[in-house]
Amino acid sequence: MDELMKRTHYCGTLRKEDIGKKAVVNGWVAKNRRLGALVFADIRDRSGIVQVVFDENTPDEVREKAETLRGEYCVGVSGTVRERESKNEDLPTGHIEIVADALVIYSESETPPIYIKDDDNVSGDLRLKYRYLDLRKPGMQNILSFRSKMYNVIRNFYYKNGFTEVETPVLAKPTPEGARDYLVPSRVNPGKFYALPQSPQQFKQLLMIGGTDRYVQIAKCYRDEDLRADRQPEFTQIDLEMSFVDQNDIIAVQEAFLKELFKEMKGIEIQTPLPRITWDEAMNRYGSDKPDLRFGFELKDIADAVKDCSFEVFTNAIKDGGRVMGVCFTGCSEKFSRKDIDKMTEKVKTFGAKGLVWIRKEDNEIKSSVNKFFSQEELASICDRFEAKAGDLILICSGKNTVVWAALGFLRRDIAGKLGLLDPNVYKLCWVVDFPMFEWSEEEQRYTAMHHPFTSPKKEHMKYLETGELEKIYADAYDIVINGYEAGGGSIRIHDSKLQKKIFEVLKLSDEDIRNRFGFFIDAFKYGAPPHGGLAFGLDRLCMLLLGTDDIRQVIAFPKNQNAQCVMSEAPTTVTADQLRELSVAIDIKEEQ
Ligand code: AMO
Repeated sequence: MDELMKRTHYCGTLRKEDIGKKAVVNGWVAKNRRLGALVFADIRDRSGIVQVVFDENTPDEVREKAETLRGEYCVGVSGTVRERESKNEDLPTGHIEIVADALVIYSESETPPIYIKDDDNVSGDLRLKYRYLDLRKPGMQNILSFRSKMYNVIRNFYYKNGFTEVETPVLAKPTPEGARDYLVPSRVNPGKFYALPQSPQQFKQLLMIGGTDRYVQIAKCYRDEDLRADRQPEFTQIDLEMSFVDQNDIIAVQEAFLKELFKEMKGIEIQTPLPRITWDEAMNRYGSDKPDLRFGFELKDIADAVKDCSFEVFTNAIKDGGRVMGVCFTGCSEKFSRKDIDKMTEKVKTFGAKGLVWIRKEDNEIKSSVNKFFSQEELASICDRFEAKAGDLILICSGKNTVVWAALGFLRRDIAGKLGLLDPNVYKLCWVVDFPMFEWSEEEQRYTAMHHPFTSPKKEHMKYLETGELEKIYADAYDIVINGYEAGGGSIRIHDSKLQKKIFEVLKLSDEDIRNRFGFFIDAFKYGAPPHGGLAFGLDRLCMLLLGTDDIRQVIAFPKNQNAQCVMSEAPTTVTADQLRELSVAIDIKEEQ
């Protein structure tokens, strides 16, 4: 075996100032070519690429060895740095090259199944199958080191602000975050299962009862839920909790953290305090509890302007207690054809909307999909409600609150995307506060906690617990929203066991259920629980936003695909009958499955 050639420089760091120096680099052959008796090889490591040339100054046996190089061979090269004749201005090392005097081939490589180039667009699954090759791309290495620096900024900030980092168990009891649990059978307790934590929620509250006062953890969380571009089944939170604080105290610390994070990672000064928007306002103005504030296109309720019109779709929606709302897309009349609007209509139907009404304001005329129900004067007065000008496109949706919000909230962002308004280098942060405490679950036919059942209702709304007016109860819960993504969420917790019991009753949890699921937790509150609250940021999402990508898998070294599989290792897999027997687990899969 060839000896290790001790590195003196990383490939991407060599510059003009190094001309004349001896250099040893280690890395992979990114490109190689022969030009008569000359051999050129671009050597890549995590820092970048440098050109190596084997010429008449190189000993013959070394040059002959260089002729055998192929892409992705792993090598060590020593030589002298010299100025390049034909400079490459696109490469940081483009002014120099190394004239080799020795070469070690550590290992050969088969032809790689993916191109190792940042701009290569092969399918996601192929990249994930050969992730170790994908990671060789300088862009991927940059992401890993960016994320690593984030850990450092996070730990540094919370440590200097008096937080104690505590690891909480991964083999745990089910947590109440609302997704499905990943279960782990216990061999020594046949028939019993651990749940991987959906978050360290209960443990961090117990740490407050335990007197830790300020806790933080970079915590892995596991949720068996449908995957999306910003969701992974295992992901990382910056999880924290504080005692003897109110919502303002928690928000102030997190704003200081975000300020430091943006400054350290991006050199961006964010202005604090950040805007706070109530949940009601977010829904009514932006149709979403995670509003993207990089652009306007606000929703407007026009029920009073159309309540007496002859278009029954609108009047019926109002009669049924629903809404008629719309958005004026300034200057968009010409930009979206009838066909484009048909496509948007199909899309909003997936949210439960019956359709989409359009109005195009032109210089001398107002065109609309509902021309036959509205006079020009009526259409003009609707346009006035939106302060529309010639060239604007108004889209209107009617129906249940939730449907109208979802449809228009989607269109706002979709159209902004098509207009190129989603600039990843612009950051708009805001808090969404005062979430409803409960939401009705059609599936379960009961109220569920919108955040989680340990969230405290707002003091002034406690009275509605007695009167049963649950929809009037808002919670001391808050989300941090960045460019339309929920980057984090938290709440002030209940620390009074009587109130906690009442909330469980409202959620229709039986005493037995409560005992089985949260018994240990409820017991802890009998022994002097401090007022406390906290928050968890999605670390992957923060990283994704800071790097300006919209695919969470980009910022995770070994992510899962859309089917929650690791295509590289092929997890999850079947296990042997012996393993199952040892765990007292039987598999029962029906034929058709
Ligand atoms: P929540 O469920 O809102 O709150 O989660 C906090 C943050 O974690 C991120 N996140 C995810 N990121 C990637 N993939 C996922 N599947 C995923 N799910 C959530 C989001 C989210 O805002 N225990 C509470 C926090 C608290 O109350 O202190 C909790 O987990 O960015």
